[in-house]
Amino acid sequence: MAVPLSSSAGPEAFAPPERDLEQLEIELLLEAVYRRYGVDFRQYAQASLKRRLYRRLHAEGLDTLSQLQDRLLHDPPCMERLLLDLSINVTSMFRDPSFYASFREHVVPILRTYPFTRIWCAGCSTGEEVYSLAIVLHEEGLYDKTRIYATDINEHVLQTAAEGVFPLERMQQYTQNYLRGGGKEDFSQYYVAAYDSVRLSRSLTENVVFAQHNLAMDRSFNEFNVIVCRNVMIYFDKALQDHVHSLFYESLPTFGILALGHKESIGFTRLAGRYEEIDAAERIYRKVS
Ligand SMILES: C[S@@+](CC[C@H](N)C(=O)[O-])C[C@H]1O[C@@H](n2cnc3c(N)ncnc32)[C@H](O)[C@@H]1O
Repeated sequence: MAVPLSSSAGPEAFAPPERDLEQLEIELLLEAVYRRYGVDFRQYAQASLKRRLYRRLHAEGLDTLSQLQDRLLHDPPCMERLLLDLSINVTSMFRDPSFYASFREHVVPILRTYPFTRIWCAGCSTGEEVYSLAIVLHEEGLYDKTRIYATDINEHVLQTAAEGVFPLERMQQYTQNYLRGGGKEDFSQYYVAAYDSVRLSRSLTENVVFAQHNLAMDRSFNEFNVIVCRNVMIYFDKALQDHVHSLFYESLPTFGILALGHKESIGFTRLAGRYEEIDAAERIYRKVS
């Protein structure tokens, strides 16, 4: 049916409510970022995404999301800054110590039965999680027959991860985490302090490959005995979570192990029935079919 064009119907007659307008601006901005840079944030959970977009908008001294879109399209360094804002990189060594205690108790005995183990640490941020896993594997006598593939969407954090230099002030907390996670050695043997930083032992990254990988867009690149992806999918919407779960499922052999963050779960995904719980509280699962 044709819409009658009345002379009194100005543009405001078609104007969507403010909230829809904001949603439209967000969608256009994310589409623009995707088409200009190939980085896909279109399926990230909305609430935290919106907060971070506004944070960048204010930091750039802009007024609207459309202005931010314009700057992003024409100013690649602005895109770099947004990428840092969006890829929330909070992490720590032996984060959730009970997870590492469970990993020692339940996963290590399984790994002992393998001649060689490939672990994918997806969304590893600045690497604290990777060094923690390497320490556990070293102490359990498994590190020499393990390769850890440590990936993240953000190449800046990967650079920090590969350098292995962290603030000295965090070591006290990390030492406590290490002990609560089942560590029995002297934690300070794993690093050398200089001024206000520490450098973690180079031997901990001997069997680690750091590589950029986007869980939203890239394919799997190997088959893994263990996939650790903690505190990453909380930032994704349901469709993207499903996509990443399929990616992980395809990357695990039968009896392959999947470890998620405390606020994440395999339950409510369509693959839930394909896994059994190794430790439900610690979100450690094993693929069974
Ligand atoms: C909160 S950190 C979690 C770090 C670590 N796994 C932990 O639990 O401490 C989330 C990480 O996921 C990464 N990330 C976000 N979106 C990603 C994507 N699409 N593909 C790969 N990594 C992503 C971020 O860059 C960030 O380093």
